[in-house]
Amino acid sequence: LLSISDLSPAEFAKLVLNASSHKAAVNAANAAGEQPPKPLHGALTGKTVAMMFNKRSTRTRVSTEAAVQLMGGHPMFLGKDDIQLGVNESLRDTSVVISSMTSCMVARVGAHQEVVDLAAHSSVPVINALSSDFHPLQTIADFQTIHESFCPPSSSSSDGSSSSSLGLEGLRVAWVGDSNNVLFDLAIGCVKMGVDIAVASPEGYGIPEAMRKVILAAAEGVPKPGRLSETTVPEEAVKDTDILVTDTWVSMGQEAEQQKRLKAFAGFQVTNELAKRGGAKPGWKFMHCLPRHPEEVDDDVFYGPGSLVYPEAENRLWAAVAALEAFVVNKGKIL
Ligand code: CP
Ligand code: NVA
Repeated sequence: LLSISDLSPAEFAKLVLNASSHKAAVNAANAAGEQPPKPLHGALTGKTVAMMFNKRSTRTRVSTEAAVQLMGGHPMFLGKDDIQLGVNESLRDTSVVISSMTSCMVARVGAHQEVVDLAAHSSVPVINALSSDFHPLQTIADFQTIHESFCPPSSSSSDGSSSSSLGLEGLRVAWVGDSNNVLFDLAIGCVKMGVDIAVASPEGYGIPEAMRKVILAAAEGVPKPGRLSETTVPEEAVKDTDILVTDTWVSMGQEAEQQKRLKAFAGFQVTNELAKRGGAKPGWKFMHCLPRHPEEVDDDVFYGPGSLVYPEAENRLWAAVAALEAFVVNKGKIL
């Protein structure tokens, strides 16, 4: 699983729904003081999941370790100073060797090509835990959060979901901020699920042409794909939106550009005033993958009544469970 673009709409929707149903089942078991229910309990017994992280992480690390543990397996965290990779050994040799002793590699890398190369030489499934281009586990959790918020269980009989959609068609997402890895997979998910996405980034920080092609290609075979629109004016993107989303303006690895970026993104902070000026829908929700800095969103929004940021973070656990189940337990079949 290197990007949401690897998944058909049906596979993506199923992963999201599986994440939600595991959450409900495990929470019910916990409340009753019981073991996690099958098929999760013991699903990874005897299996080791290698977690190769060459960048910091709170959510991705904790959710992956907790998910493997919940399923009875052993998470083996390998930080950038723990293994020979990148200093003393090639990616190819590392991939062949680690995959010969484990059941899955979950990798957080720099350039996306690194995780592509890991997968090319691995004999076990590889899950992208964030690359320069994509963050698929985040997108699964984000759609789980959107689905829970806009189609709560009480409305599930009439939520319009089908085998290849989540019943979210017609919803509008506005991304205000940097065009980055988190946006790219989110946009691919939106196109596949019939959710319109409007992106506002400053001049020079928009979606690169090659990535725009990848996002638009996600519409292939989707009867009513979500539409992508782009602007440099935050108010335009926010118009009629149901959900406002942003992320850091300075991703990991871009620290040297911090001053330049803070200047370029002036006027892009998500605030209630921006939402009002732009004409966001009443009751609009706010999402952010975290970690968050106050420059991209103020406290009133981040801690406000429409903020979904903490359920969104918690859903990272269930996204990890659903991905490990699909790719490690069921060998890539999303059942
Ligand atoms: N959202 C996310 O991936 O957070 P971490 O960098 O803390 O894993
Ligand atoms: N865009 C951010 C996401 C962190 C989860 C980064 O790449 O640093």
